[in-house]
Amino acid sequence: MGNLTLVSPALASLVAVCVLLWARKQADERKIGSIPSVGSSGLLEYYTGGWRFLFHYPEMLAEGCEKYPGRVFRVPRVFRWDFTVAGTALTQDVVTAPENVLSAVAANRDASSLQLDFTMGPELSTNSFHIDVVRTKLTRNLGKCFPGIRDEVSCAFDELIASDGTDWKLVTVLPMTTKVVARTVNHVFVGLPTCRNEDYLDLAMQYTIDVFLRAQLISLLPFFLRPIFGPLISSRNQSVRKGLKHLGPIIEYRIEQEKQHGSDWPGKPNDYLSWLLESVDINDERTAPDIVSRILAMNMAGIHTTSNAFAHALFDLTTHPSYINALREEAEQIVEEHGWTKAALNKMHKIDSFLRESQRMHDNGPFAITRQVLDPLGFKFSDGTVVPYGSIVNVTFRGVHFNKTNYENPDVFDGFRFYKMREEPNGALFNRHMTSTSLDHLSFGHKVHTCPGRFLAATELKTMLAHLVINYDLRAEIEGVRPPDDVFGIVIVPNGRAKPQYISPPGIPGPDMTLLSLAKLWDSGR
Ligand code: HEM
Ligand SMILES: *[C@@H]1O[C@H](CO)[C@@H](O)[C@H](O)[C@H]1NC(C)=O
Ligand SMILES: *[C@@H]1O[C@H](CO)[C@@H](O)[C@H](O)[C@H]1NC(C)=O
Ligand SMILES: *[C@@H]1O[C@H](CO)[C@@H](O)[C@H](O)[C@H]1NC(C)=O
Repeated sequence: MGNLTLVSPALASLVAVCVLLWARKQADERKIGSIPSVGSSGLLEYYTGGWRFLFHYPEMLAEGCEKYPGRVFRVPRVFRWDFTVAGTALTQDVVTAPENVLSAVAANRDASSLQLDFTMGPELSTNSFHIDVVRTKLTRNLGKCFPGIRDEVSCAFDELIASDGTDWKLVTVLPMTTKVVARTVNHVFVGLPTCRNEDYLDLAMQYTIDVFLRAQLISLLPFFLRPIFGPLISSRNQSVRKGLKHLGPIIEYRIEQEKQHGSDWPGKPNDYLSWLLESVDINDERTAPDIVSRILAMNMAGIHTTSNAFAHALFDLTTHPSYINALREEAEQIVEEHGWTKAALNKMHKIDSFLRESQRMHDNGPFAITRQVLDPLGFKFSDGTVVPYGSIVNVTFRGVHFNKTNYENPDVFDGFRFYKMREEPNGALFNRHMTSTSLDHLSFGHKVHTCPGRFLAATELKTMLAHLVINYDLRAEIEGVRPPDDVFGIVIVPNGRAKPQYISPPGIPGPDMTLLSLAKLWDSGR
């Protein structure tokens, strides 16, 4: 008797949970049952599918794109479904939908990868002037900022590669490119000497990772617990405090100068920090932490995106080494003729094409086109599919970047694909530059939320590639082998294991293929 009283409540709860799960599944089926799904099916598919998602996301994506081309399919997550869009027409529906229907801001607040309100602060989405400043002042000033960008790229590479010029040197690619990019964007964001301060750079590079990891944890909590534990899990205050240590005195100094000498005070630096300060009320004592949050947010948008893209491009270059000479000739000739200027970069058509092709073939990692459905009636796609209120909708690039309708031999890397289009008779109408977005090239998004930082990113990437091929020779550690991407959930990034020098112990298969040999050309007697 006594046993029964203990067992029955447990049993009853178990039954209740099962009934709830079943009821929820029925409700889901009524709403979204007609939308195809990838992954397993059955009562526990949220769980099994959700776990499979963590380690096999690329396969699930590929499966969806192959089975349901041009359509929407659902992907099981723990406790919910996400929706993935895989074709040109439906992508058009997503990127042209207004913010109050399909919201990028709401998605960033809710999505497991960001949890923006907790990790970065709600003020970033309620007033996003830091994004407007990128779109306007930063982009317009790139020509003026170019000498700084060029100098930073050149110093950073030479310091990090530190070749003595006598022999090939193994360099772990991803950490190197990340550091070069972190220094370069911060040359534009906050200027010298902060952009070379190791402690500041650690913060700038680590911030994205902190935000992502902690956002994943927060998103595992039920909604009502997030406001309580979210702020404790988030590293926001800690990051802002670290940022203030470096930027606080600079901000104070600049505000002081402005108060004394007016907004165009002599010696005012031309950087993103100045442009941000031009957009705020400098008498507001909350200014400094707020500005620091925004600079951190821009480091998040601008570092790993760009360094991943560059690492991918380098792996493509060393896997297809026949491009090295062609790119080198182009860069050398143009720099000789026009010097190192932003205008000269625009003439490097082969380098531009090569980078664009590399972006076409490789995912941006988690930086995709993500929206949340805000219309209570759901979002209706042009093919009639309806996705319910509150869902997360992601566009996958694969549906369009690997589509034969859009690209000849889409599975083949053709570094001069876009260069060749440019040379065609109607090449005058050429609109396939690195920075041009279209429904068949989504790496920087398209339409409503197109990446405003793409002009800076393209400037950096082209400068980096031109600098490397002019000054260094490159080869893969293992000829013809492209290091496999690292995968964790939606995070698909270029291989990044750091083993600067790997000696294979007996019985263990060959060295990790993450390293690149580089040797300084001008010393090696080319
Ligand atoms: C190769 C490098 C980069 C890639 C691949 C990339 C890609 C993207 C993508 C896919 C989006 C989302 C588009 C959408 O939601 O529809 C985006 C948005 C954004 N990116 Fe980039 N990005 C890069 C570099 C940068 C840099 C250097 C900055 C800053 C200077 C930046 C700032 C932003 C901002 C502020 C947004 C949000 C725009 C909005 O919501 O309106 N990005 N980027
Ligand atoms: C390729 O694009 C066309 C046109 O948008 C579309 O009809 C087709 O379904 C796509 N194919 C794949 C495999 O995604
Ligand atoms: C969709 O994108 C969001 C935000 O990047 C991410 O958290 C989520 O895991 C993605 N879901 C799928 C199925 O790709
Ligand atoms: C973070 O800082 C804010 C403002 O200084 C403060 O109100 C809040 O309690 C802090 N949060 C945590 C978790 O320390």
